[in-house]
Amino acid sequence: MRVLSPIWTLWSSTLLLSPTAALQRPLRTRELDAAFDWTAIVPTHDLQYHPCYDTFQCARLQVPLDWTKHSNTTTNNNTAHAAIAIVTLPATVPPTDPAYAGPILINPGGPGGSGTEMALGIAAIIQSLVDVPGVRHYDILGFDPRGVALTTPSASCYASQFDRAADGMRADGMPSVLEGLGLKMKFEMARGVAGLCAQATAAAGAAGEASVFRYMSTASVARDMLEIVERVHALHKGNGTVGGKACGGGGKPKLQYLGFSYGSLLGNTFASMFPDRIGRIVVDGIVDGADYVAGTWQKNIDDGEAAIDIFYRTCFDAGSACVLRQSTDTSFSDIRVRVDALLRSLRTSPVSAIHNNRAPMITSYLVSETIRTALYTPIATYESLSRKLAGALAGNFTLMLSDDTVVRFSHPTDVCTEEKPNTSPPKSYNFADEASTGIICSDSQASAGTRDLAWAASTVGRVTNQSSTIGEAWSKVPLACAEWPFTPPYAFKGPFGSPAPKNGSDAAPLLILSTRTDHATPLANAFALSRLHGGSAVVVQESVGHCALMASVSLCTYGIVREYFHTGKVPANGTVCEAECAPAIPYKACPGLPA
Ligand SMILES: *[C@@H]1O[C@H](CO)[C@@H](O)[C@H](O)[C@H]1NC(C)=O
Ligand SMILES: *[C@@H]1O[C@H](CO)[C@@H](O)[C@H](O)[C@H]1NC(C)=O
Ligand SMILES: *[C@@H]1O[C@H](CO)[C@@H](O)[C@H](O)[C@H]1NC(C)=O
Ligand SMILES: *[C@@H]1O[C@H](CO)[C@@H](O)[C@H](O)[C@H]1NC(C)=O
Ligand SMILES: *[C@@H]1O[C@H](CO)[C@@H](O)[C@H](O)[C@H]1NC(C)=O
Ligand SMILES: *[C@@H]1O[C@H](CO)[C@@H](O)[C@H](O)[C@H]1NC(C)=O
Ligand SMILES: *[C@@H]1O[C@H](CO)[C@@H](O)[C@H](O)[C@H]1NC(C)=O
Repeated sequence: MRVLSPIWTLWSSTLLLSPTAALQRPLRTRELDAAFDWTAIVPTHDLQYHPCYDTFQCARLQVPLDWTKHSNTTTNNNTAHAAIAIVTLPATVPPTDPAYAGPILINPGGPGGSGTEMALGIAAIIQSLVDVPGVRHYDILGFDPRGVALTTPSASCYASQFDRAADGMRADGMPSVLEGLGLKMKFEMARGVAGLCAQATAAAGAAGEASVFRYMSTASVARDMLEIVERVHALHKGNGTVGGKACGGGGKPKLQYLGFSYGSLLGNTFASMFPDRIGRIVVDGIVDGADYVAGTWQKNIDDGEAAIDIFYRTCFDAGSACVLRQSTDTSFSDIRVRVDALLRSLRTSPVSAIHNNRAPMITSYLVSETIRTALYTPIATYESLSRKLAGALAGNFTLMLSDDTVVRFSHPTDVCTEEKPNTSPPKSYNFADEASTGIICSDSQASAGTRDLAWAASTVGRVTNQSSTIGEAWSKVPLACAEWPFTPPYAFKGPFGSPAPKNGSDAAPLLILSTRTDHATPLANAFALSRLHGGSAVVVQESVGHCALMASVSLCTYGIVREYFHTGKVPANGTVCEAECAPAIPYKACPGLPA
């Protein structure tokens, strides 16, 4: 019996479409770097594993930067390459064992989240969740998508972290996008950063080096996943069951995959591009593909206000245990009225605070972002959110400013380090914002060419219409595409979808998970995705928060996921799973449960 590590329910996020927080913390990757020397691995065309981090296997897999130039697997030394960083927790049985079931690829979302970091953090938990002892044992394989973390070339536009922090702090302190001047300034700031990325790309070109910015579409990453699947297969070829009986035996090797949040878009893209390569695909926290590639941003935060109301209700029901509640409150909406008033006031009258020997601006963006970030993992964050908001309403912003998943660059360590992270894996992953922007703006080409100030105004209008509280914070995502200058040659524009697998084949339909109330990826998106993929089914977990497997513990959901990886069977479409824990104020841990 294994006990689930608390980290499973303790993730929170700075990335927008990601359930995990640790992903963007530069320090973490620095620690990783100290524990293993990635620069010592020479990227190879075939998969060559190197022992790393005690129990893991690491590799740098060489793939062509431009997949339009490679319709098949060929070694061509004359074209530029990317080196995909891979961290695998090997199956607990050798590949020769009949119970060896091949790799499950994982993606943590973001976009821009690091799969290698996720593997190091929770691969053991995922493995204990999916393994059927003595029957099926999986490798859990995390990889960094193009531009991200340890994969090279890096999607970095700044020459140093100091420069990045200086620009980032300035942007975060600007007036609200809901005010004309703030919108204009943030639009111009984003346009400037896009220009910096173009400049960095030109400089790389002049130096004869590759730049990733034209080659980081989700379609390219989906194609990379196919390559990973084939090369794992090739590695074990000649040794019996090769990737398990269900996935790869007989025909072409197939993908087994678990993707969260933006990772659902990656899974959807793979399934739509390579329907005959679907082995098992579980997606959790669903992005609407059509809306995402259109760049319309109409289907992300529709359930934002519903999620926030659950927080206010929890606080109200907690009575005096919730510091945000006042004794005169007669309903949860009295709490909302005070917070809304604070947001409104800060929009036109930002204030300063003294914190860590600096004088940061307190803007409505900061409050909106604090709430948005806390809604990812309510069990872990409701109590601290109530304290932050209560402090802020009393004019004390200490707690709010102490959250470095919200306040960027609060500890700009190594700010003076020069950055030249291109062909060798970087020492720290501090360019997640550029990576995220590069992926999102490459994928939403449909709106390219029109991304001017008028576009920015209508986009912010649409986003804030979905959720007045967190829309302001969310607006930074689409705004980052202002005049983004790169067009990917290899892209997938839809339509999304795949046919139901044929009877008797080793393929399976998609398994789609969602919480009931998810402020970043609404449940409606899960049903919309199911309509497009024949035979697929949605599981609704009765939780609030982002992604079913991250929001709470649910033995029901766990059982369905394990069974699906084993047999390929999905439950009835619309199956509802109860969760073992709900968020509470004061904080109540969700006990680790035997997997
Ligand atoms: C494989 O790709 C190479 C290089 O792009 C091309 O010359 C060759 O015709 C392709 N082969 C097949 C079978 O598609
Ligand atoms: C390609 O490069 C690798 C190492 O970088 C080398 O071993 C190989 O011989 C080269 N192949 C060709 C066809 O030049
Ligand atoms: C097959 O398994 C044997 C025994 O475990 C091992 O020595 C050999 O390297 C494996 N071959 C491949 C291609 O993985
Ligand atoms: C502000 O809040 C912090 C954290 O709760 C607390 O330690 C501090 O004493 C407060 N400051 C004032 C002036 O009340
Ligand atoms: C926002 O919603 C209002 C009311 O539903 C609507 O009139 C307005 O057109 C919407 N604005 C945008 C930019 O979508
Ligand atoms: C596939 O198999 C199921 C159950 O065995 C059966 O109900 C269904 O009709 C079959 N579908 C087709 C297209 O043959
Ligand atoms: C699953 O249920 C939803 C909502 O009822 C429906 O729209 C969708 O088409 C169903 N999926 C499949 C594969 O039938």
